[in-house]
This record gives sequence, C-alpha cells and structure tokens, in this order.
Amino acid sequence: MTTRTLIRGGLVVTAAEETHADVLIEDSRVVALAAHDSGAAAGWTADVTIDATDRYVIPGGVDPHTHMEMPFGGTYASDTFETGTRAAAWGGTTTIVDFAIQSKGRSLGEGLDAWHEKANGKCAVDYAFHMIMSDVNEYSLREMDRLVSAGVTSFKLFTAYPGVFYSDDGQILRAMQSAAASGALVMAHAENGPAIDVLVEQALARGERDPRYHGEVRRALLEAEATHRVIRLSQVAGAPLYVVHVSAREALAEVVRARDEGLPVFAETCPQYLFLSTDNLAEPGFEGAKYVCSTPLRPAEHQAALWRGLRTNDLQVVSTDHCPFCFAGQKELGLGDFSKIPNGMPGVENRMDLLHQAVVDGHITRRRWIEIACATPARMFGLYPRKGTIAPGADADIVIYDPGTEHTLSASTHHMNVDYSAYEGRRVTGRVETVLSRGVAVIENEAYVGHAGHGAYLPRGICQYVN
Ligand code: URP
Ligand code: ZN
Ligand code: ZN
Repeated sequence: MTTRTLIRGGLVVTAAEETHADVLIEDSRVVALAAHDSGAAAGWTADVTIDATDRYVIPGGVDPHTHMEMPFGGTYASDTFETGTRAAAWGGTTTIVDFAIQSKGRSLGEGLDAWHEKANGKCAVDYAFHMIMSDVNEYSLREMDRLVSAGVTSFKLFTAYPGVFYSDDGQILRAMQSAAASGALVMAHAENGPAIDVLVEQALARGERDPRYHGEVRRALLEAEATHRVIRLSQVAGAPLYVVHVSAREALAEVVRARDEGLPVFAETCPQYLFLSTDNLAEPGFEGAKYVCSTPLRPAEHQAALWRGLRTNDLQVVSTDHCPFCFAGQKELGLGDFSKIPNGMPGVENRMDLLHQAVVDGHITRRRWIEIACATPARMFGLYPRKGTIAPGADADIVIYDPGTEHTLSASTHHMNVDYSAYEGRRVTGRVETVLSRGVAVIENEAYVGHAGHGAYLPRGICQYVN
C-alpha cells in the first residue's frame, strides 16, 4: 500500500527557486508540488500531513566529504557510521559521501569491501563512497574502471602525508589519465607534503611544539604550490579535477586562474575555514589541538576570499571534512609535539546551520545555501536529481527548517561522538525541525526517530559538470 505524505504551508527553497508550495510524497519519492492548499482540487489525499507554516522546506543536505571511523594518526576518527550518520541527520544532512581507503600493498577492491563492511546496516541516512588511492600502481590503476562501474566514481589523491597517503607527481598523473578515460573525477588534497615535513622537523628542533605551529609549517604558499601543480597535471592528463578543503586565498587564486582559463577545475571549502582561524589554533594551553586539521586554519583575512569564491562560484561546494578525534586521549596524542596531533575536526552536524547563519549574515543567498550544500555536491558526485533537490521523481529527502529560532552549538547538546565542539557557545539562527530520508522521518519535531540500517548505499553516476 502506498503511503502519502503532505508537507503543507512552507516555503520550498531549492538551488533554482523559492516557492510557496505544498509537497506531495508517495512512499520514498516526491511526486508533486502545488501552490498552497491547491492540491485538494487536484485530488491530493494524504495519510500523514506535516505542517510547515513559517518554515523552509529544503532538500536534505549532501555532505560529500566525511571520514567515519577513519584510521589516522595512530587512532580512529571517533564517529562510527552509526553515530556519524545519526549526527548528520540531526543537522539536516541526509546523504554523506565518505572515503574508503586503499591501504598500502592492498587493492582498491579490498579497501572498498572494508568500508562496505563498516557501513552496511549501520547508517541512519544514505551514504556513498569515494576511494582514497594510497598505492597507485599498475594493478590499482586498472582497478579504477571497475570501481567506476560499481558506482565509486571519484578518487582522492594526496600530495600531502608522505609515507601514508602521499602519491608522487607521476602517480597522480597516471591516476588522472585513467580517470580521464573512464569519466571519473580526481579529488586532490593539495599541500606540498615533503616540504611541510622539512618545516615540521625544523620547527620541532627549535622547540616549537604547540598546536599553533601546525598552522605555521603548513604554509599557505605550500597549499598554493600543490594546488597549481595538481591543476597543471590534470590539464596535461585532460582530466577534470576537484580540489578538496581549500583554505588559503593563494590556493583559491590558482583555482580561479584555472577556471578563467576554461579548465574543468572545481573546488570545495569547509565551515572551519569560513568561521574559524589561526586564533583558534593559538588558544591557550593545548586547546588549539581541537582545531588541528589539514589543510590548516588560516588567519582570518583569508575568509573574505573564500566567501567571495562561494558567491562567484569559483568555489562550488561546502563540505565538512568531518573527521572527529576526542580531545581526551586522541588529540592528546600530540601533547608536546604538534605533529602527532591527529588531523581532523568534527562538523557533520553543524554545516547546514552554519551556512544558514551565513545567509542571515548576508554572505550568501538562501538559494546559494542550498546550491553549495545540497544541489551542487549531488551534481558533482553523480547523485542528482535523486538527491539535492525537491522535484517530482527525487528522493523525499526533505528538511523542515525553522529559520527564526536561535540555538547554541555545544558539545553538551550535539550528537557527534566527540567530546568537544569546534563552535562551542556560538549562537546560530535557524534550526532543523524535521528530517525525512526517502519519505521516512528520521528527525521529528527535534527528536530522533530513525534507526541504524535505514540508510542505504548509493552507487553514483559520473560528475555531471563534465562531458
Ligand atoms: O585534517 C584532515 N583533513 N583530516 C582528514 C583527512 C584529510 O586529509 O581529509
Ligand atoms: Zn585531505
Ligand atoms: Zn578529508
């Protein structure tokens, strides 16, 4: 039997338009939109009615950059797929794209199987995978095509982290050539890892051991240099490129230059680079460890360039790079040596609210909020129009968002499995009230009503911004 759900009275906001409309859902899909209260005349009936008067009705967020349970820095990211996707739902995100990891000496297929094992039956909302390539060789290059056919259509390569995920320029070029042939999208973590390692060694030798030195050695110029390099390698390979977690204005300038030249180069930034700065890394005692991530936080002056990039579409996406480590016992691994602090920050629950705050503050428009957080990530990673919009045929991943209620971000109230909030005490205007995932309520009037295993694996198509 078909279940019909009616969302009535709200302002439907998509990347394309804002309409005062009611939304009719049949089972897991949106079937129709119509002017308020006009559905009855068209014969609409509903088993469940959700009142969205004075609320926004928006597509569920698509966060294309998370690391649940990621092994890193001698420990594991503290959110499992179960806790992390539950927190995502609380924050109005209904799809995550996480990174499966190829271990050194292992195949891509083994890495993917391991991530399926971690996620299967655990997720509160839908999920998909990118693949981190940490061992580019003849075999793994051949495997890329097979992964694309299995719906893993993007591959992350690192110019950072020598000895861990690092690939040299030749390996990156080969992976890009293979991606160009199959339609896959190469994602690049662009920082000059070998040069950073020299600066780390020199800083430690000078006795510079506090978290703030993490930001100082990972110089903006070394992000810009690596960004330039991966752009030119992708140009040589004839492959599209997506630069992850851009934080430095100099790196963004490289992206802008490439885009002005007409190259298929895309980039994301993350809320931590828009709302936090090196001032946080320099907080007293060891507090700065909470903000250690790579690329690092930058001086606040960089933020204006990032906001501008988001407005001008030189930056297309805001993801979270959610990679939480508890302060107690995990970040503390780097007490007395900043280079041993596990890299990563929590945020999957906060992204939609922080970006709505950016609307309130006048940085972006409401439609741009939905574009950078829902529609474009879905298009970029082959999930649109199933995800990222509200339209007939789309999955009924829908958030009823109260734009007027203020709340305070805090570890005492968040749902991520991490003992601190990077935004502790920050007041934001706007709040997720109800969340549907494929027509099923996972958050209802600010209470969790979902369950582990509701979230389904999403094989993806290829990036919709390239031929
Ligand atoms: O610090 C970060 N970003 N940790 C997660 C791994 C990565 O490089 O994205
Ligand atoms: Zn990265
Ligand atoms: Zn990441």
